[in-house]
Amino acid sequence: MRKNIVAGNWKMNTTLAEGVGLAKDVNEALKGIDAKCDVVICVPFTHLASVAGVIDSKLGLGAENCADHVKGAYTGEVSAPMVASTGAKYVILGHSERRQYYGETSEILKTKVNLALAENLTPIFCIGEVLEERENGTFLDVVTKQIEEALFDLSAEEFGKLILAYEPVWAIGTGKTATAEQAEEMHAHIRGVIAGKYGQEVADNCSILYGGSCKPSNAKEIFEKPNVDGGLIGGAALDCASFMGIVTAF
Ligand code: 13P
Repeated sequence: MRKNIVAGNWKMNTTLAEGVGLAKDVNEALKGIDAKCDVVICVPFTHLASVAGVIDSKLGLGAENCADHVKGAYTGEVSAPMVASTGAKYVILGHSERRQYYGETSEILKTKVNLALAENLTPIFCIGEVLEERENGTFLDVVTKQIEEALFDLSAEEFGKLILAYEPVWAIGTGKTATAEQAEEMHAHIRGVIAGKYGQEVADNCSILYGGSCKPSNAKEIFEKPNVDGGLIGGAALDCASFMGIVTAF
């Protein structure tokens, strides 16, 4: 059966010293509790190797992106093999900020997913609608299309290695959270889309996380929904106590 997961996405925050300090704090805090979910931190590329050196196996480590090429003359890019060589096990792909600000298309993301899987990295694949799509009622179709375009060339076995994260763009960093009902509606829809392509078992085994202004104060209500299997946490992951407040919502 699918896992519950709380993953932090630090985005472009923290210096190396601050990030290593935060990772140590989360690592220590985790030791003191019997967490009912897997816990992952996704950190800037520059921090990966150092963070890998200070955390225990109980805390998962991931990158926030990887390149759409394996190696070569791509100045400034970081490949999936490079990410894997640091000890990271996860990689966020398709975050709305990457789609919006860096022009990442479904075609590009398809390549990135394949390269990540080839390195045994677990993609945390993000999908979600913008406000206009929420308001004009096309949000379910938009998310269906994002999944179909980037992921439906995968085999069932490959798809089974993914984690999905539903992040309504209008709820990211805005303090405006989707209601638990809105999250559940979308998560159930996503599971149905997966079941339609890969069958009910693959769909039931897929962890689908919610992301968008998730905080200790609202995590429990959202995580209680049957199709919500945890969260992808931005701002609240930058503070150890807030992040742990979300982890312990399970
Ligand atoms: P916030 O939790 O800051 O809204 O960010 C969510 C997010 O984008 C996680 O990937």
